[in-house]
Amino acid sequence: MHSIKTIDLPAPQYNSTTSVEEALKNRRSIRSFHDAPLKLEHLAQILWAAYGITQKVDSGPNYLRGGLRTAPSAGALYPLEIYVVCGDVEKLTAGIYKYNSENHTLKYIAAKDDKMSQLSKAALGQSHVKNAAANLVYSAIFERTTRKYGQRGKNRYVCMDLGHSAENVYLQAYSLGIGTCAVGAFNDKSVREVMNLPEKETPLYIMPLGYIK
Ligand SMILES: Cc1cc2nc3c(=O)[nH]c(=O)nc-3n(C[C@H](O)[C@H](O)[C@H](O)COP(=O)(O)O)c2cc1C
Repeated sequence: MHSIKTIDLPAPQYNSTTSVEEALKNRRSIRSFHDAPLKLEHLAQILWAAYGITQKVDSGPNYLRGGLRTAPSAGALYPLEIYVVCGDVEKLTAGIYKYNSENHTLKYIAAKDDKMSQLSKAALGQSHVKNAAANLVYSAIFERTTRKYGQRGKNRYVCMDLGHSAENVYLQAYSLGIGTCAVGAFNDKSVREVMNLPEKETPLYIMPLGYIK
């Protein structure tokens, strides 16, 4: 049984001194980080940028699960799930958490073992995964999209959705002085095992997060 603990995340900020243009110009994939804990409000801001609700829809179809979000999604079907593997995040015990967009909360899932090292091993030993303060792990429930769009959903839409969300992470992270890197090279089976992913979820991206040196 997973222990169930829900963490209310700090509310997102809608202003900053970094323009979108500046973030677009300067964003890079960052693979080495300052050895400092990630602030919880910064992690919360990045999760909101990735997949936060920006327009609540209370009476809409079930699949909306709360409303429209920061990232576009084919058919507003939102196939992605976002986990956080915490190594060094202020106020959070190391371990695995899952982001809930609807309530802007994190659900604590597991803390056994050194998940940062295990995830790095699963990512073919990429050291930025281990040396980050935390990692976002994206998975997708393809079925949410293929139910409506069939092969086109599988071959195109789910990964297009992922790209939109991940770019939001790059830009938001940059504006907070945080570096990230889209990591697509990993052993699927090993990431599944480390994350204890349900059968219906496919791991797609790992995004390490840490302050830029
Ligand atoms: C689909 C995809 C997969 C990637 N996988 C990895 C990876 O496994 N490891 C890594 O260090 N960088 C990975 N990258 C980052 C690219 O190497 C990086 O975006 C590219 O070198 C351009 O650099 P920039 O992002 O700083 O502009 C990936 C990027 C994409 C879009």
